Amino acid sequence: MVDKWDTLQSECLACKKCELSKTRNQVVFGAGSPQAKVLFVGEGPGEQEDLSGKPFVGRGGQLLDKFLDYVELDREKDIYIANIVKCRPPNNRDPLTAEQETCIEWLREQVRLMRPAIIVCLGRVSAQRMIAADFKVTVQHGEFFEKGGILFMGTFHPAAVLRDPRRKPDAFADFLKLREKMKELEI
Ligand code: URA
Repeated sequence: MVDKWDTLQSECLACKKCELSKTRNQVVFGAGSPQAKVLFVGEGPGEQEDLSGKPFVGRGGQLLDKFLDYVELDREKDIYIANIVKCRPPNNRDPLTAEQETCIEWLREQVRLMRPAIIVCLGRVSAQRMIAADFKVTVQHGEFFEKGGILFMGTFHPAAVLRDPRRKPDAFADFLKLREKMKELEI
């Protein structure tokens, strides 16, 4: 699996399948443990991620780390973090549908190799792509949905919590639900 993962990563790092490859600095394949049973999926790299090649390292990433600390999850060991698109959309615009459709093949391969038990979707773009096109984060956050043997849960994007800190208690509660579900599944 490690071999296949490394091959997938090198192929992805050389990807030129869409226009985002022309403006990116680095491809952000993901980080954490590919052996983990929990996969977090964000939207796409922002400025800091594009420069560093790592997911969620900017202000949103620091808040994500607080949520993870709160439920004692180690981002290197207990989870893997990836995004719907691996290259930064210019000016942090939403990734276009065509870009998402092209890029999601990489994520599909990541899921196929990882075989996570739980996928946590961070924010609207990820939840609408992975769970349901009409997913409403404000209403359905923290609920688990089973699809193809994987449990999916949508929660607020850390950047949305930074914009509206009143969302913080709900976001913390979702991480607690994740922790409970992991205990229930003995992971
Ligand atoms: N926002 C995302 O959705 N993903 C990242 O990796 C960073 C910020």
